[in-house]
Order: sequence, then structure tokens, then C-alpha cells
Amino acid sequence: MRNVATIQELRVHIGNARASGKRIGCVPTMGALHAGHLSLVHAAQHETDFVVATIFVNPTQFGADEDFSQYPRPLENDLTICREAGVDLVFHPDVETVFPRQNATFVEVPGLSEILEGASRPEHFRGVTTVVLKLLHMVLPDVVYFGRKDYQQQLLIRQMVCDLNVPVEIRTCPTVRDSDGLAMSSRNTYLSGTERETALELSRSLKHVRLQFEEHDITPAEACRILRRVLADTPELSIDYATIVDAETLLEVDETTSRDTDLVALVAGHAGSTRLIDNQPLHRPRTTG
Ligand code: PAF
Repeated sequence: MRNVATIQELRVHIGNARASGKRIGCVPTMGALHAGHLSLVHAAQHETDFVVATIFVNPTQFGADEDFSQYPRPLENDLTICREAGVDLVFHPDVETVFPRQNATFVEVPGLSEILEGASRPEHFRGVTTVVLKLLHMVLPDVVYFGRKDYQQQLLIRQMVCDLNVPVEIRTCPTVRDSDGLAMSSRNTYLSGTERETALELSRSLKHVRLQFEEHDITPAEACRILRRVLADTPELSIDYATIVDAETLLEVDETTSRDTDLVALVAGHAGSTRLIDNQPLHRPRTTG
């Protein structure tokens, strides 16, 4: 495995791989790698011939009062994880390489970036779409991999790639969970034992509402009320939003929404000072006969 920090070195290795006819897969990360990231690497290994993992804690997607400075940066450990997983190339640029002082251009997806996560974290998605577009231009992958846990993020990136005609395929891979159900996140390491128990209500409430929706004849709006009621039973979890939305537009369901709509339940909240998100697609029950 190679690991490089400059765009020049990155381009040499990518150029060589492409010259030998390899399809390039890219897994963008902010490091502090866990099994969720590894599932993206495995998907990339399955579908492409040369896997590039990027490790970059992107300052532009953190708000002023967020955890940019304390975000974990265990680079040596991440490199070992990548090596053992069979990643071909790791790109771990510094901030000045990705955002030189004279950087003036940012990319925004209006609308989708202003609701839900965007309402709670106003500059967040502008930073995400900008850094992802930059990384795509640097790595020039055939396929790029994201986790479904960041549901709104992958939807925005799909919109950006479509709007700007970026020649890359996007794969969204399933959320990986710990055995207790908590969605894997680099921020889970911030949680104390009690906070983790509180945080588990996010995945439990989502599972509960999915089962209610799939096994009973309730409307999406009723399901949304159930989700909020269940979460209200855990006051230690400070909820930012808990909602059920159209899986494509992210518009919240109302009394007129049909059960046939593709839906996703989304939650975000704080356990202690740690902000966590999770989501669950809601499937219509299979019709029999
Ligand atoms: O999902 C993440 O880890 C980050 O938002 C991403 C896509 C690597 C951009 O910094």
C-alpha cells in the first residue's frame, strides 16, 4: 500500500493505475476508521481494481462551535487498518493542500442543504459538497462510495454530481451497526457508558417505527407521531429532529402522504455533548396472493 499527502504524488499513482487499465474506486473519509468505512472499502474492492481511501478532516464542514479541533486523528492506526484491508493507496493531504489560503470557490446545493442537518448545521453541507468535489477532481475515480448513515449527505452529493456532470458513479452502502444496534460513527468514541445507553434509543426508536409501519396499517404521518412519542420517553436524548420524509425530496410526510411513497425515518440528537444521526428506510409490507 502507498500513502501520499500531495496531489502530485496522488496523480502519479492514479495515472499508473489507469494506464494499466484499472478502474478506480474511491472511499472518502475523515479517518478514525471503523467497520463502517471498511464496508465501503470492501464494496470498492468488489467493484473496482484500485482502491483509494482519502483521509482528511475537513475544516469547512465543521461549525465554529463544533468538534473540529478534538475530532480524532489516529493517522498511523488508520494507515495500518487500510494496509490490512488491502487498500491500494491512501491520500491524506493537509489542510493547506486542499484549502490553500487563496481558495475562494465553494459549491452549494440549495434547498436540500438547508433542511434537517443543514438547518442544525448551517455551513456543513457547503463544506461537504466542496471537499467532495475537490477530492473527486483530485482522485478522478470511476466509482465513489458513501455510507447510508449520512443519508442526506449522499443525496446532496448525488444531486451535485448530476447537476455538475461529474463523471463518477455513486454507491451508497448500508449502515453498519455495532452488535447493540448503534450506527457506527467515529464520534461514538466520545460517548461514556451511560451516554451510549441513551444514544441507543436512536436506533431502537427507528427499529420500532419500522416494525410498526411494516406490520400494521398505519399512515406515514401516524408513523412519524409514533417515532416522536417513543423518543420523548428518553428525555436525556436531546432531539434535533425526528421525522419521516420522502426518500428523494426529503419533504416531511403529512396526512396526505401515501404508504406507497419511498420513505426514510431520520433522527438526530445529542447524547451528552455528542451529536449523532441515524436513519431507517421504511418499506411497504409485501403484498401476498
Ligand atoms: O462522511 C464523511 O466522512 C465526510 O463528510 C466526507 C464525505 C469524507 C467529506 O469530508
